[in-house]
Amino acid sequence: MKGIILAGGSGTRLSPSTDSMNKHLLPVFDKPMIYYPLSVLMLAGLKEIMIISTSEDTPRFKKLLGDGKELGITLAYREQTEPKGIPEALTIAEDFIEDDNVTLMLGDNIFYGQGFTTTLRNAIKNHRHATIFGYRVKDPHRFGVVEFDHHKKVLSLEEKPDDPKSDFAVTGLYIYDHRAVQIAKKLQPSARGELEITDLNKEYLKWNHLDVELLGRGFAWMDAGTQQSLFEASEFVKTTQQRQGFKIACLEEIAFYMNYISKEALYEKGKSMEKNDYGQYLIEIAERKHSEQYWDSIDHHPMLGVVEND
Ligand code: G1P
Repeated sequence: MKGIILAGGSGTRLSPSTDSMNKHLLPVFDKPMIYYPLSVLMLAGLKEIMIISTSEDTPRFKKLLGDGKELGITLAYREQTEPKGIPEALTIAEDFIEDDNVTLMLGDNIFYGQGFTTTLRNAIKNHRHATIFGYRVKDPHRFGVVEFDHHKKVLSLEEKPDDPKSDFAVTGLYIYDHRAVQIAKKLQPSARGELEITDLNKEYLKWNHLDVELLGRGFAWMDAGTQQSLFEASEFVKTTQQRQGFKIACLEEIAFYMNYISKEALYEKGKSMEKNDYGQYLIEIAERKHSEQYWDSIDHHPMLGVVEND
């Protein structure tokens, strides 16, 4: 399974903050937005991940995250020269995906909740053709909307409908088989001039090859694409972290609990930034005397939830 994060776009809804800065590099409380989707793909167990951004911003992502070695993963980068829509990420990444399955994630989506790792890993394990994740929201008309029956069979999909058929938004996390690339190539732009991910999902739906996983009320899903939602996401992260003393989307911590990097490497990384809270947190994790006693891997980590083994 390959992973793709789409971090392109012009971020007009966040202007002027995004006039000289890519949206996905803006902070969500104490770390850049891109850390959140990357943490999700890492928790899912994906080790080969491609970040797609604009020509101008790709070097900035490279500077921030490098080749991934420090996190025990492989990061590749590709440019999207114009914001032509989400499905274009799949065609841009065609030679990276090859004949593999792929999990595509939008760079401004933030997921958090007990058991999320389990849900995602199970969805990947049981994946048939295409899987989307539905989340109940108050304002479904702002999103792709999925309608389903009581067996969770998908009945319809609509992009930003005026009159939504359900309250379930389609989140920016999608799992596809390798056919997604060929389907993406055949799509036509919508009225807003973009290729729509909803149109791609509708193709899978036509063949009855689209599954929906529902994220329950214990989950938090946010898209940080507007001033309001970005601020709310920052507040959420701040409040949760402050209360629990755990950081959300701390990539080095995840790499450590996934056994991708050593305690020494974690400590060194912390030391290199010890003047700030993030660095101090890494040192604290590396020095936590009782850590082995309570959990020896991600499977038993209290923050990450219990992961079913294959
Ligand atoms: C996109 C998708 C939409 C989905 C949303 C999730 O919307 O088109 O179906 O619900 O991401 O964040 P956009 O951000 O392009 O408005």
